[in-house]
Amino acid sequence: MSADRARTAIYEAPPNIALIKYWGMRDVDRGLPCNASLSVTLERLRSRTSVRFDAALREDLVELNGAPAAEGARQSVVRFLDRVREMADLNLRASVRSENNFPTASGLASSASGFAALAGAACAAAGLRPTGRALSQLARYGSGSASRSIFGGFVEWRAGAKPDGSDCYARSLYPADHWPDLVDEVVLVEGAPVKEVRSEVAMQWSVRTSPGYSRRLAEIPRRLERMRRAIGARDAGALFPVVMEECDSFREVCETTRPALDYLTSTSRAILGEVHAINREAGRPLAAYTHDAGAHVHVFTLARHAPGVRRRLARIPGVREILRVRPGPGARRARPGPTGPGA
Ligand code: PMV
Repeated sequence: MSADRARTAIYEAPPNIALIKYWGMRDVDRGLPCNASLSVTLERLRSRTSVRFDAALREDLVELNGAPAAEGARQSVVRFLDRVREMADLNLRASVRSENNFPTASGLASSASGFAALAGAACAAAGLRPTGRALSQLARYGSGSASRSIFGGFVEWRAGAKPDGSDCYARSLYPADHWPDLVDEVVLVEGAPVKEVRSEVAMQWSVRTSPGYSRRLAEIPRRLERMRRAIGARDAGALFPVVMEECDSFREVCETTRPALDYLTSTSRAILGEVHAINREAGRPLAAYTHDAGAHVHVFTLARHAPGVRRRLARIPGVREILRVRPGPGARRARPGPTGPGA
């Protein structure tokens, strides 16, 4: 392998949707969360990122979806590369190219997939060979939720308690094929507002100002245990109510934050109402909603209920598109392809 090829690597990483939300940091500099979180890694959707360290470059070049990155995004990538350069004792600038195979304008979170892919590609290009755990610890410096996109299936990000963060890392609870019947209908809504405040900033407002924040923190360990068990037993009847309880708790904290954080549109709220109606009419939990710091709603259900649930959701005014996604694999090294950014 030539020296140049040795300094180039491509990684692909998926987004994830949190069933227990990461919201609040106990140490902002180290990106250490106040609470553990749990997510499902999503199949099909991915960021594909190439990193090439190159002695001929005078500065880092960052291209996102075929165009030079905006200054804020470029700086986050440069800061991340600086960390990798320090770890690898490397003094070369890099060219970074990243593409999402889902529309960035769709408002689906791309920071988790983007930074997970960047972490993998930058380490590999720099000649580092971190374990999955170490890679999850690195990825969180880009975006907390990126730590979970390293792994596939059902993933827990342990908050840890040590000040140095050594016990804070993500790990796989169950692989992607653990529960083949579980389906996530990702309901994209029209007119989802562009996020004005980054999550990492907004969540610290919640820590400081939401009167319900400490109660939420106290409730999470029990909720996490209920979820772990329900997922382990593939028990939708046990899982779905706790998924919605957690989402409601997250939303309540956001709404009682000052200034208030309101991520939903009237369509998002109608989707939440429709899921309650579906469950009420069935007399048991057939579906569960959850959402991040954005207006799109993920509706979990089982494959046999998915067509009926989807029909009900598609009728809601303002629903733009519904993507069906299942649990999928985590980040992985990719080969240069004819259409990929490494081509
Ligand atoms: O990873 P960040 O900094 O974009 O924050 C993620 C926050 C939520 O998406 C709302 C929750 C989560 O755990 O993914």
